[in-house]
Amino acid sequence: MAGSAEQALGREVIRLLLATTHRDDPYPVYRRLREDHPVHRTPFGLWLVTGYDDAVAALRDTRLSSDLGSVVGNPAAFVGEGGPVRQIAGIARTVADLVEYAGAGVVGMAPELLRIGVLALRSSDGTGAFGGLASKTLLLRDPPDHTRLRRLVSRAFTPRVVETLTPRIEELVAHLLGKATADAHCDLMQAFAYPLPLTVICEMLGVPPGDQQRLVDWSQQLVIGLDPVQTMTDRSAAAHADRAAVEVSEYLAFLVRVRRSEPAQDLISRLAQASDGDDQLRDDEIVVMCALLLIAGHETTVNLIGNGLIALLRDRAAIDRWLAEPALTPTAVHELLRYDSPVQTASRRARDDLELGGREIPSGDIVMIVTGAANRDPDQFDGPEELVLDRDPNQHLAFGSGIHYCLGAALAQAEARIAFPALLQHRPQLLERPQWRTTMAIRGLQSLPIALTH
Ligand code: HEM
Repeated sequence: MAGSAEQALGREVIRLLLATTHRDDPYPVYRRLREDHPVHRTPFGLWLVTGYDDAVAALRDTRLSSDLGSVVGNPAAFVGEGGPVRQIAGIARTVADLVEYAGAGVVGMAPELLRIGVLALRSSDGTGAFGGLASKTLLLRDPPDHTRLRRLVSRAFTPRVVETLTPRIEELVAHLLGKATADAHCDLMQAFAYPLPLTVICEMLGVPPGDQQRLVDWSQQLVIGLDPVQTMTDRSAAAHADRAAVEVSEYLAFLVRVRRSEPAQDLISRLAQASDGDDQLRDDEIVVMCALLLIAGHETTVNLIGNGLIALLRDRAAIDRWLAEPALTPTAVHELLRYDSPVQTASRRARDDLELGGREIPSGDIVMIVTGAANRDPDQFDGPEELVLDRDPNQHLAFGSGIHYCLGAALAQAEARIAFPALLQHRPQLLERPQWRTTMAIRGLQSLPIALTH
């Protein structure tokens, strides 16, 4: 049983992770937990891993499963055997435990656990199209399914494909910044950070220009489906996400059929043709893959741009240095990824009993690897609280580690390496204190009001 000091700290971290406020700066609390309890167990079976070495070990440990749907879909993980009713009871009990543990102030929030629970509940009873779609993606699969899907998608999504996108990314960046600088001030998230990666991924997939707005709308509904607070508190948000999942699947299935008969130079055609011996992706697998790429391809890069720019705006010397030394761009982008990562946590479920950082983790427990905390571990990074644009080495965990290492890492970097230098040329000035979003696993800004010079 954890000591009372550890519990008090753990409570604080849980509050911070889950509450819809306190998003401005999670790092002081991460630091305290990491220094004293890098592998911390909350009393309700959720582990928080904040130390760098432990986080890497956890991300690479095959006894920790990414197949979270089946865990929570299997009510034994919470409350013993039973059907959906038992699952709801299990989730309710978890919330009750959580409230008791962290204090009544957290009632308005919902943890990643609940997101997982909601996904599982909604997919396991066959009514949740969104949960059903999410649980089939390679992000939530283990080997051998994961190995097979990853191998096939890697044949289509290659570094060469990303390289060929450079001129188009440059064109889009110039176009969006041209529009943004036309006004005295703008919200960078809406004017630039969202449209850039979304247009890139739509074009990469081969979505005809006239249909891209539909994809944007569906994608926004799906992202809301990922947000535990919205889906738990607003049934219409969940219903919208389900409807978007059905519609986007039907639309993508249509595109796959078209591309099977008339291949083009796009990712859907390449996914349709990708083979490994006799093995090929089925149409329904291509649909799921494209839906994942659509969400993963924009919800993250958006926040690399937003989080990165706000970090730079708070350190004008770094902006001057980057402008004076453009060759810093590759390391600078990695440093922004480390400093305030768009993805702060990765969750796994223990498939077996295992030992991590000297603690015994029992089979069935959920392990939340707080990569955002590990990326500030002073045992791994010198002066981790400083933004050092030429930091090297910089083995941050912003793209994860191990078999689920981000498939789009090269694409995200290509976009950021073009976007940041172009953006900084326009001498951005912060106009108002920015608002952070309430989501937990994804860290990002609601809005970023700035002025840009021509
Ligand atoms: C700054 C931008 C990005 C960040 C910070 C990011 C972060 C991550 C992280 C942390 C994971 C691993 C999650 C885990 O281990 O549970 C991941 C996986 C993944 N990412 Fe990204 N990502 C970014 C951009 C992209 C882009 C642009 C795409 C595609 C267009 C993409 C596609 C994927 C896919 C498909 C996976 C699943 C890989 C697997 O399970 O094998 N990501 N990403």
